[in-house]
Amino acid sequence: MLRLTHISKNFITNNNTVRALDDISFEIAPGEIFGIIGKSGVGKSTLLKILSLQLKADHGSYDFFNHDAFLSDAKTKQTLIKQTSYIYQNFSLLYNLNVLDNIALPLKLNGMDKTNRENLALEMLEFVGLESKKSNYPITLSGGEAQRVSIARALVTNPKVLFLDEPTSSLDEETALEVLGLIKRVHEKFKPTIILVSHQLSVIKFLCHKVLLLSEGKIKKLGTIKNNFDLNSSYLDLWDESL
Ligand SMILES: Nc1ncnc2c1ncn2[C@@H]1O[C@H](COP(=O)(O)OP(=O)(O)OP(=O)(O)O)[C@@H](O)[C@H]1O
Ligand SMILES: [Mg+2]
Repeated sequence: MLRLTHISKNFITNNNTVRALDDISFEIAPGEIFGIIGKSGVGKSTLLKILSLQLKADHGSYDFFNHDAFLSDAKTKQTLIKQTSYIYQNFSLLYNLNVLDNIALPLKLNGMDKTNRENLALEMLEFVGLESKKSNYPITLSGGEAQRVSIARALVTNPKVLFLDEPTSSLDEETALEVLGLIKRVHEKFKPTIILVSHQLSVIKFLCHKVLLLSEGKIKKLGTIKNNFDLNSSYLDLWDESL
């Protein structure tokens, strides 16, 4: 389980303090698909960076599968980070490596030999349905293909937790649906805990078991959502209040 307790985070720039997160506490169960929503600038990405151990909070504690993530020594923290993968809106593939080498890169960084890492990378490439593109360079891929490659790269290390920040925002509707279908298949096959930031209600409706609404750095709502809400609903009208 992932548990944040009384988390806050300020950013200080030009003598200005931005309170990005303010007294945030909640839990995410193993294997859950957990959504974080809210308007621009409310702290969604900051929260995701804290959950994915890229950023430390100013206050509060973070229990990452029974490890104190903020107080762990550097080596333990590295071990925890290795159990996670992060998928970005803009895919973040390395332009000077071909598709197979992009996917194999996290394994190379972990010290795995070439044959094993290429075999695993190929397996993941087959899973996302792009084995024919293994020698292509990222510049030759469409947005949807690039995101599928970045999903393959995120999966190749068999992560326990998968973080996604607006994974379909830069894709057209049809391609976004394909990528969402793929994320669902990832969850069915590998059962990772998935934590996803999105401002698109269609994404939340399609994927998430539980959703947290942020407003100005605070939790406004947290819970399960209705399965029949209208995609034009306001953020406040999504929740299943019957529980
Ligand atoms: N590294 C940083 N330095 C200074 N301020 C930051 C930094 N990162 C985020 N902020 C500020 O913290 C607040 C929350 O930012 P965050 O990126 O978490 O918002 P968001 O909800 O992800 O927005 P969006 O939907 O536009 O991506 C914003 O006011 C932002 O300007
Ligand atoms: Mg953001």
